[in-house]
Amino acid sequence: MSQTSAQAAPKTYVVEHLDPELGPWSALEYECIAKESAESGARFMLTSVPATLRLPPNLAALDSLHVEHRGVEEIFASQKARVCLLDPAASFELSPADGERFDIFLFGGILGDDPPRGMIHRTSELRMKGYVGRRLGPKQMTTDTAVRVTRIVVEEKTPLDQIEWVDYPELRINKHEATEMPFRYVKGKDGEPIMPTGMVELIKKDADKGLEDLL
Ligand SMILES: C[S@@+](CC[C@H](N)C(=O)[O-])C[C@H]1O[C@@H](n2cnc3c(N)ncnc32)[C@H](O)[C@@H]1O
Repeated sequence: MSQTSAQAAPKTYVVEHLDPELGPWSALEYECIAKESAESGARFMLTSVPATLRLPPNLAALDSLHVEHRGVEEIFASQKARVCLLDPAASFELSPADGERFDIFLFGGILGDDPPRGMIHRTSELRMKGYVGRRLGPKQMTTDTAVRVTRIVVEEKTPLDQIEWVDYPELRINKHEATEMPFRYVKGKDGEPIMPTGMVELIKKDADKGLEDLL
């Protein structure tokens, strides 16, 4: 085995599911994380999933998703120093060197706030457990984007300031309506923000439903 491959231990991306439910938005995000992690040879774990929660069919069908009812603290009790919490309120930014220091990257399984709430973040529920934190820049990202960016930084060794972003993209719902997404996304090769398959359709459907509820 070469020295390079010996150093590159596979990464584990852990999303601690912090909401009592798992709605269609989270289901698409988690499916996307599972697929991209499998493609890069990394492991994806969804932890603290309530035993009573029935997984949506798109997730139940995935071999590459490891679902755990236990929480991250219990699962990685003996490896706490190798866990990095991705935390919008952390003092230091994630850097490629963190790929050597940490093997396990922990994210909050929570939907974003609109408008983003200053420094009050629900990620603090994980911060209180005492993990070393790293920030991915000042703007709120979706959970799948946060995992994607972490992979780009620690696996592909691209520093945060060399990643191309699309901030707060506007999605056109119909001829008359548009909605602004309150997140930072990675810019894809086509110049568009990278989003999970089916997300644009879901957002449009939700927006149409919102309009119907008003009628
Ligand atoms: C949709 S965000 C949740 C943001 C929300 N405002 C909160 O309550 O923390 C889901 C997860 O993505 C990660 N994340 C999102 N943006 C981040 C950033 N700028 N820096 C570090 N982590 C981020 C965090 O792990 C966060 O728990």
